[in-house]
Amino acid sequence: MDDLLLIEPVVQRFVGRRKSVFAEAYDPENDDDDEGATAIFPKTDEQRARLTESVKNILLFRSLDKEQMNQVLDAMFEKKVVLDEYIIRQGDDGDNFYVIESGVYKAFVNEKHIHTYNNSGSFGELALLYNMPRAASIQADSEGFLWAMDRQTFRRILLKSAFKKRKMYEKLLDSVPMLKALQNYERMNLADALISKSFQKGERIIQQGEVADGMYFIEDGKISIQISQDGGEVEISQLGTGQYFGELALVTHRPRAASAYALENCKVAFLAKDSFIRILGSLLDIMKNNIGQYDEQFQSMLLRDSNC
Ligand code: CMP
Repeated sequence: MDDLLLIEPVVQRFVGRRKSVFAEAYDPENDDDDEGATAIFPKTDEQRARLTESVKNILLFRSLDKEQMNQVLDAMFEKKVVLDEYIIRQGDDGDNFYVIESGVYKAFVNEKHIHTYNNSGSFGELALLYNMPRAASIQADSEGFLWAMDRQTFRRILLKSAFKKRKMYEKLLDSVPMLKALQNYERMNLADALISKSFQKGERIIQQGEVADGMYFIEDGKISIQISQDGGEVEISQLGTGQYFGELALVTHRPRAASAYALENCKVAFLAKDSFIRILGSLLDIMKNNIGQYDEQFQSMLLRDSNC
């Protein structure tokens, strides 16, 4: 019972839909838990190749430079997992961060099944990032292999960059109404996945007819959405801070239905297609509904195109 009382606020913080996900009192700059030498685990070429493949899509690693990435690869060690093994128990202190090479793993909060990892992904970052007990239990649902990184190494290499990124996108993600439907934990993963891009006044950000590689959230500035008509382009809407664009082609699996231009110097956060599917999959219905609110002219163009 005592354990439950201890765990509850932590779980609420990441599982519920609090107003702000990121407003933590904890400051990594004031934490010297990351002192000491990084352990190096020598690997065969074959092991390194497997590890490189496993870490390719790990969002937390996206902002690392080449040298940091090599440190990560050196520091990770292999762990064989047996069926039903508990890798992490809710409420424990955090020891390692894990990247999945193979196997199926289930996450439980207060014994309730909340997520299944199927042969890819990572877990165990929260306790290490926020210096708090494990927010969930992770149990193996098959045999498998994990790559693990100890707490000290994780914090030394990843803490500040991950923290900075989550803080940086806090305001933006709080300002997008659609994202309120996400769990706090999903919003943090979204922050890890975003990439900041800047565009000069007049620059084209996406072009009608092109294959879509991702979507954009507007951090700062005004965007003009335009469609081709009679050899020129007409504006169908203007978007500002906290709004998003470029999702339509990802939802409809069709080429870009319009072009987007920066009306002034703009800062946008880009979400690549693979992360979009993984993180915003649960919002597809909301996005489809939002399409209903697009400008009439644009709607008739969409209908016209889909009848061709
Ligand atoms: P950590 O708290 O260190 O250990 C348990 C892990 O479960 C946690 O980090 C996350 O990596 C993972 N997890 C997956 N889904 C959730 C969720 N909804 N809330 C909290 N943790 C989650």
